Amino acid sequence: MLSIEAYRQAFISYLESRTTKREPVNLYEPMNYIMGLGGKRLRPTLTLVTADLFGGDHKDALDAALAVEIFHNFSLVHDDIMDDAPLRRGKETVHEKWDINTGILSGDAMLILAYQLFENYEPATFRELAKLFSKTAIEVCEGQQYDVDFENRDDVSIDEYLKMITYKTAVLLGASLKMGAIIAGASEEDANGIYDFGINLGIAFQIMDDYLDVFGDQESFGKQVGGDIMENKKTYIYLRTLERLDPEDARQLEHLYSVYPKDPSDKVRSVMELMVSSGAKDITLEAIESYTNKALNTLDHMAISDSGKDLLRAFAMGLMRRTT
Ligand code: IPE
Ligand code: IPE
Ligand code: MG
Ligand code: MG
Ligand code: MG
Repeated sequence: MLSIEAYRQAFISYLESRTTKREPVNLYEPMNYIMGLGGKRLRPTLTLVTADLFGGDHKDALDAALAVEIFHNFSLVHDDIMDDAPLRRGKETVHEKWDINTGILSGDAMLILAYQLFENYEPATFRELAKLFSKTAIEVCEGQQYDVDFENRDDVSIDEYLKMITYKTAVLLGASLKMGAIIAGASEEDANGIYDFGINLGIAFQIMDDYLDVFGDQESFGKQVGGDIMENKKTYIYLRTLERLDPEDARQLEHLYSVYPKDPSDKVRSVMELMVSSGAKDITLEAIESYTNKALNTLDHMAISDSGKDLLRAFAMGLMRRTT
């Protein structure tokens, strides 16, 4: 096994070697722009890690890793349109820099390019990878639709929220891990085990993303802090705040979460204060830790090397300390 950083670097080198200028410029330039803005490269790194972890060669997993990262970036381009987000990785979002139509079509093309990369695998592996990918991609769409639907609902439960983030975020982490296992020829039990690890890690990851959207530092987070509050997103921290407030404060929060003021700064500040005073901020951090531990417990029951477990444990713990 290599170090996490070495897997990340292996992916970045491969990405650079596969990046070319193509025409029409207005289709491919936005693609290269978003892919080149960096990001943590978590998903492709995980694909390479599990390929080695289950006895394969991570070099054989580079195309799957690239597919996963292109898909992720496609989902971000469309997500930023849907969330009306101005900033991504500290830079202008694609639809701000170009326009909405460019974001839609470049995103569509990225989704197709991601699929194409699986054609580089032998038929049996291709079939398994494409099947997992299709299932995952449709679930991401379902999760994204729930996320948008919830903006206009005031009765979203924690269970509904967990289902929504499992679909929009966690399944892709699970699939990224499982793809490496598939390429390595791991047993079905191992492949499903590592998928479950990814689901719980992904849930922790999205709750953390929601947390950082309120309490993160915009400079390092690279996204507009307060964006979820402006869009009335029913996040974990919001739902925990609402259930802990007395009826009067709860009514005030629900009112704030029904309006879209021109200048949202007062609204964002008021909601933030309620998130702190209710104790929901601390409860949210506890939930992140608890889902991370749940993920790590899955590893205990798996027959993988101690060094592999250590590496995944370090990866998971690193995500809990992240600021980006
Ligand atoms: C952002 O994902 C979208 C979510 C699922 C929260 P990342 O936080 O992995 O984004 P990058 O790729 O590192 O920018
Ligand atoms: C991310 O949800 C889900 C997908 C992109 C599929 P968010 O809307 O919270 O992601 P960010 O915060 O914009 O990265
Ligand atoms: Mg978003
Ligand atoms: Mg979104
Ligand atoms: Mg977010």
